[in-house]
Amino acid sequence: MMEPVLSAEVMDAARGAQRVAVLTGAGVSAESGIPTFRGAGGLWKDHRPEELATPEAFAEDPKLVWEWYDWRRSLIAAAIPNPGHRALAEWERSIPEFTLITQNVDGLHHLAGSRRLVELHGNIWRTRCGGCGRMDEDRRVPLPEHPPHCSTCRGLLRPDVIWFGESLDPDVLTTATEASNRCDLFLVAGTSGVVEPAASLARLALQSGATVIEVNPDRTSLSAIAHHSLAGRSGDILPRLIA
Ligand code: OAD
Repeated sequence: MMEPVLSAEVMDAARGAQRVAVLTGAGVSAESGIPTFRGAGGLWKDHRPEELATPEAFAEDPKLVWEWYDWRRSLIAAAIPNPGHRALAEWERSIPEFTLITQNVDGLHHLAGSRRLVELHGNIWRTRCGGCGRMDEDRRVPLPEHPPHCSTCRGLLRPDVIWFGESLDPDVLTTATEASNRCDLFLVAGTSGVVEPAASLARLALQSGATVIEVNPDRTSLSAIAHHSLAGRSGDILPRLIA
């Protein structure tokens, strides 16, 4: 059973926290109009994200994968941060130790003003060349060619995001792990908690003695371990939690 939102105990945990780590997922951007991966609207032309966000899919059909990314980029380009993103950016400014760990590649946390930010799965606006390794930022929507090619070596460009089956950047993962180990409050918002190693960060925090609070309209695989599961949308709950 999920609890009614924002009990005195929950508010005290939020107000008293000195070291906060936050893990966010696609749900925090849902209210900005960006579809989540696993809910309704996650499909694109009958493809599931799990079929497209893989090295194998890219090797087989880079044009198709880039068309999907261009579709996501067009939605993201039109989106603005919502009250949930803004509340987290504001919270960062009032907490001595604060780390926002996001699985999202949309850049909306940064746009909202978050700076102590760990982008676990990369960023959709960056490209990486499969030939020379060159990294670039490219915000053109739509891209002029599918798939795009490197301006230096003409190699095939890919989005600088983590795909299923790929490892996270070790430095990025270390920063996220340390923040999760050190925090006294771990907030997890808008994620189904099924993708590793992100989901395990909540378990790490729990084992290190942190209070774990979840914000999600639905139950997730992390609800059972959270001390408090707040049933609602992040754009509604986060501004009130952080007020
Ligand atoms: P999912 O699509 O798996 O889960 C989104 C979660 O957000 C669900 O639990 C929803 O109930 C919840 N949700 C929906 N609307 C919400 C709202 N307004 N406020 C709060 N929560 C809401 O997305 P992620 O958990 O982010 O990885 O998925 C994890 C990873 O899987 C992604 O980073 C991506 C994906 O494949 C890669 O691309 C590697």
